[in-house]
Amino acid sequence: MTDATHLRPDSLVVAAGRPPRVPGAPVNPPVVLSSTYVGVDTPGPDDLLYARYDTETWRPLEDAIGALEGSHRRALAFASGMAAISATLAVVPQGGTLVLPRHSYNVTLVAARAHAEQRGLRLVEVDIADTDAVLAALADAGQTPVLWLESPTNPMLEIADIPALVAAAHERGGLVVADNTFATPLAQRPLALGADVVVHSVTKYLAGHSDVVLGAVVADDERLWTTIKTQRDVHGGIPGPWESWLALRGLRTLALRVQRSQASALELARRLEGHEHVLEVRHPGLPSHPQHERARDQMSGFGSILTLRPHGGPAAAAAVAANVRLWVPGTSLGGVESLIERRRRLPAEPATVPEDLLRLSVGIEDVEDLAADLLAALEAAARATA
Ligand SMILES: Cc1ncc(COP(=O)(O)O)c(C=O)c1O
Repeated sequence: MTDATHLRPDSLVVAAGRPPRVPGAPVNPPVVLSSTYVGVDTPGPDDLLYARYDTETWRPLEDAIGALEGSHRRALAFASGMAAISATLAVVPQGGTLVLPRHSYNVTLVAARAHAEQRGLRLVEVDIADTDAVLAALADAGQTPVLWLESPTNPMLEIADIPALVAAAHERGGLVVADNTFATPLAQRPLALGADVVVHSVTKYLAGHSDVVLGAVVADDERLWTTIKTQRDVHGGIPGPWESWLALRGLRTLALRVQRSQASALELARRLEGHEHVLEVRHPGLPSHPQHERARDQMSGFGSILTLRPHGGPAAAAAVAANVRLWVPGTSLGGVESLIERRRRLPAEPATVPEDLLRLSVGIEDVEDLAADLLAALEAAARATA
């Protein structure tokens, strides 16, 4: 691979994970379709053996994501964000304590509860924005707790005080894992803020086109990296070569996409706040967000997600999602297309998420078209539910 690690993030997304620059070489890495490799009796640490362990199609993507998160080690690619998260949950020691946001991504909560039941873990679900409450949970957690962070949380957009919480977890010999899917490494770098492991649903912003499901884990520490890789080796939650290649192709435009969608999200949040049909808008970039200052301190962008609660309750929220024409009603986020979803339509969503809350993932369309479409849908919803 070419060495791109000295570059700034916006250049890294373009330059990392390219083949060596020699005459006649392709500028893009090839897709290699092979389940096994010609072997030698005593393989070296970098030799490829078998495609469940390591492949040359994963490596460029893993190099790029590892470098973007500021790790000296390449990332580990997984079949999905959930495969990455499940492998990482295995670092919680048997009988240990896992402290995690009560508004984590709902399937992360399901996975954490299953681990807790099967492996005798103590699970403490906290309001991650309430630093005192999290510090109290850590103080009560015994030795080597694992603190799981999502910041912003999905979908409540709560912001954790990452440096303070990391310091408290480390004081107790604990580990900190951060799901950086919402922020992306362009807006937040959890390793630089002290976290030990970063997980991603690459499906979202990193791949960016809603055409691939893939996950990644970044860990700088060799022992942790190896533990998580062993989980991948034995459970086999590996991505296919096409998906890895597509994710890297998508990553090339991450900086442009995020720049555009973040600017549009903030603009839309500003316009919607105080609108006659809107009860509440939440976005970390709005001064009215309860942790706006904290987001300013630890993030270099506010993300491209906002939440919206229309007047008229859940029926009005459902009507907004049903009446958009440009926005796509559907789950997921981080694609080039803008998506809107009433989160409580999903049975697994925590009951503390309001029934009328719409999560909006802002894409890269013209912000005027996005605003016009949304305002027309709000108008139609208000008429329908009057
Ligand atoms: C914050 C977050 N983490 C993890 C996941 C899971 O990722 P995947 O769908 O790629 O398994 C999601 C999916 O929505 C998510 O929003």
